[in-house]
Amino acid sequence: MDDTDAARREGPDVVACERCPALTDCRSRIVNGDGPGDAPLLFVGEAPGETEDREGSPFVGRSGDVLDDALRDAGLARADVRVTNCVRCRPPDNRDPTAAELTSCRDHLDAEAAAVDPDLVVTLGKVPSEHLLDRSVAVTSEAGSVDEARLGGRARRVLVSLHPAATLYDASQREAFTAAVAEAAALAGVGDDGDDGGQSRLGDY
Ligand code: URA
Repeated sequence: MDDTDAARREGPDVVACERCPALTDCRSRIVNGDGPGDAPLLFVGEAPGETEDREGSPFVGRSGDVLDDALRDAGLARADVRVTNCVRCRPPDNRDPTAAELTSCRDHLDAEAAAVDPDLVVTLGKVPSEHLLDRSVAVTSEAGSVDEARLGGRARRVLVSLHPAATLYDASQREAFTAAVAEAAALAGVGDDGDDGGQSRLGDY
């Protein structure tokens, strides 16, 4: 079966895909991105975990709670942003997605980014950061920094962040994670900044 036969889409949502045999066997469902179709911020994680696989939405487990807290601190609600993953199906035993799985799922992410056309993409953790920026990334030291990646048909600004789960294993990372989300909101001119009539600072980059 070639890729054209293996994947079906409704807008940015993938409704059928069997490109990755190990993921097709393991998943309960395909977990598509969630949030406004014109969100200014697109958060990109790695792959769904157990809770996401069960509920069908990204970042609804403990990592999602951490993300929601950081958004709230920045003056945003989950409903203000779009959240998705590099890979839409849960890997067995929560292992990292393989390079082949990231590549297979890439056009789904490209289609979503092209449809949403966010002002800023935020990569949550090492896997999405390295996948999108196509280089090695030291997320702890680079958190909050902005780079550029080709995604959804054009070059886009990408802000590197820790994965929210990192703060569950190491509470000292919480501040850096919260600061990266606040910086993303400030750069896009939304949240607390937006309430004050703030403007996107992305022209500085
Ligand atoms: N971790 C991720 O990278 N994505 C999710 O959706 C949940 C946890």
